[in-house]
Amino acid sequence: MNLKKIGKSNVEVTEIAFGAWAVGGWMWGGTDYKLSVRAIQRAIDLGMTTIDTAPAYGFGLSEKIVGEAIRGKKDKVQILTKYGLRWNTDKGRFFFNSRSNEGKPARMHKYASKASVLIECEESLKRLGIDCIDLYQIHWPDPTTSIEETMEAIDLLIQQGKIKASGVCNYNVNEMKTAAAIVPLASNQVPYSMVKREIEKDVVPYCIRNHIGIIAYSPLQRGVLTGKITHGYKFGEGDNREDLPYFKGENLYKINHFLQKIKTIAEDREITLPQLVINWTMKQPGITCVLVGARSPEQVEENTRAAGFELTDEEINVINNELDKLKLDI
Ligand SMILES: NC(=O)c1ccc[n+]([C@@H]2O[C@H](COP(=O)([O-])OP(=O)(O)OC[C@H]3O[C@@H](n4cnc5c(N)ncnc54)[C@H](OP(=O)(O)O)[C@@H]3O)[C@@H](O)[C@H]2O)c1
Repeated sequence: MNLKKIGKSNVEVTEIAFGAWAVGGWMWGGTDYKLSVRAIQRAIDLGMTTIDTAPAYGFGLSEKIVGEAIRGKKDKVQILTKYGLRWNTDKGRFFFNSRSNEGKPARMHKYASKASVLIECEESLKRLGIDCIDLYQIHWPDPTTSIEETMEAIDLLIQQGKIKASGVCNYNVNEMKTAAAIVPLASNQVPYSMVKREIEKDVVPYCIRNHIGIIAYSPLQRGVLTGKITHGYKFGEGDNREDLPYFKGENLYKINHFLQKIKTIAEDREITLPQLVINWTMKQPGITCVLVGARSPEQVEENTRAAGFELTDEEINVINNELDKLKLDI
């Protein structure tokens, strides 16, 4: 799989990366520890060597699973993790109420003061079992701490050799400008899929102009763009997807109707719908890397095969015309 430089940094990432949110279990109805480790190891074996995780994913569990999966393979992988979404503090801005995998209540806070970021980094390094994080990203903007203060912590961590590059997630253009004034900004990790394209308006043009990498998250729109979610689909307990607007009512019907329309392209090419969807997403302007979540080695095998082919102009036109017709109520 191709490696691409992320922004102007020296960090390279695979064009499709393993997203380790679901393997943390939190918001995904729990996790299977051993299967998750095997899924990540399969990704590495198949050349999908970039892994994106976060402390919040399973309250440390995703990072621990990643740490176990990469043991003995640290020189082969690129580790992306995050900070600034905390569940064990009352500081910062309350985000939402949640529950741990064990059912314990947890209040999520956006909090990225300098002291907090430095502590979080140590905790992540320990859970991951590594000395240096390739790309360290703020998970969500923290409106209670100045971006300057947060980025000072990042600058220090770079000087200390604990992280290689600085990234942000879910930042708008003004927030990116402020962050980039303090420390070189390698990337912005943002939601992007066939059915979620807000970033095309201003984030993508700004990042292209300023050589900032875009890491697209949820390219399968959390699984609905695989075509497997139909009305009556049974989600596991604690899987919050059934409450999301993409997964119910008219929207779900329309998405599946759209997928049926583009399925012939996949069939003619002897590929699967997820592969078609991922390939279209990774080839859009400005996209450096797409993060695809997976829970099993089989899903990983399917998703890694989404790289390595080019859709024709005609196929892209068919997909884009169908997307133009798709009107969701989100
Ligand atoms: N920075 C942020 O704020 C943020 C937010 C969201 C995500 N992210 C990152 O982006 C990554 C990817 O996003 P995501 O996990 O939300 O969504 P996604 O990649 O769109 O969907 C992943 C889910 O789709 C299902 N799936 C994957 N491959 C499949 C296949 N080949 N066939 C059938 N089903 C398949 C799996 O769930 P089931 O098998 O359970 O259906 C999987 O967990 C995350 O893991 C995380 O690293 C970051």
